[in-house]
Amino acid sequence: MKLDFITIFPEFFEPLRLSLIGKARDKSLIEIGVHDLREHATNVHKQVDDTPYGGGAGMVMMPEVWGKALDPIITKDSELIILTPAGKRFDQRMAEELSNSKHLIFACGRYEGIDDRVRQYYKGEGFRVREVSIGDYVLNGGEVAAMVMVEAIARLIPGVIGNPDSLTDESHNVEGFLEYPTFTKPQIWRGLAVPSVLLSGNHKEIADWRNNQASKLSQCE
Ligand code: ADE
Repeated sequence: MKLDFITIFPEFFEPLRLSLIGKARDKSLIEIGVHDLREHATNVHKQVDDTPYGGGAGMVMMPEVWGKALDPIITKDSELIILTPAGKRFDQRMAEELSNSKHLIFACGRYEGIDDRVRQYYKGEGFRVREVSIGDYVLNGGEVAAMVMVEAIARLIPGVIGNPDSLTDESHNVEGFLEYPTFTKPQIWRGLAVPSVLLSGNHKEIADWRNNQASKLSQCE
């Protein structure tokens, strides 16, 4: 899978060299491109934003710089993801869907967002475009939101996680179900014991207990 990020802060994506994603890059399971939007600015001040038509506070990112950044990388295989608090809420189902894509482009807006004609134009040209939010709160920009999405999506790509069994019992695999509590050594820590059923060796009872715990968790807020 190819992942491209367009941003005015390329440094935000340095951590993608670490951990599982870093290893997946080494194995060529994931290819990452980070693009500095300012390189596409057209005036001497490297301006990427301007005041909003209709008035109001803040600045809006100009469509021309976005067009110049997107045109060379977008193809019919691409899914253009515009990060915005007004987008569709990101969840595990969306992560699964996006993990099957060949190419994701994350458009990381700052300020009051990106001129809406960028979305209109690429949609109108027949490209896949979606506006995505990671939750009902406002971030300073889309970079951290894009990183959250990549953490959730990349681990679903075959080969990224060493032991694929790790993916089977996870929270959110089944809508609304959260993972059961887990324990390791020692058996007693600060007076707290591991539930005895987990030491019983009875696989059926262990599975029932875990199922029961998972459904209990899904009922709490
Ligand atoms: N940009 C600002 N806030 C955001 C959010 N909640 N999700 C995605 N992108 C954003």
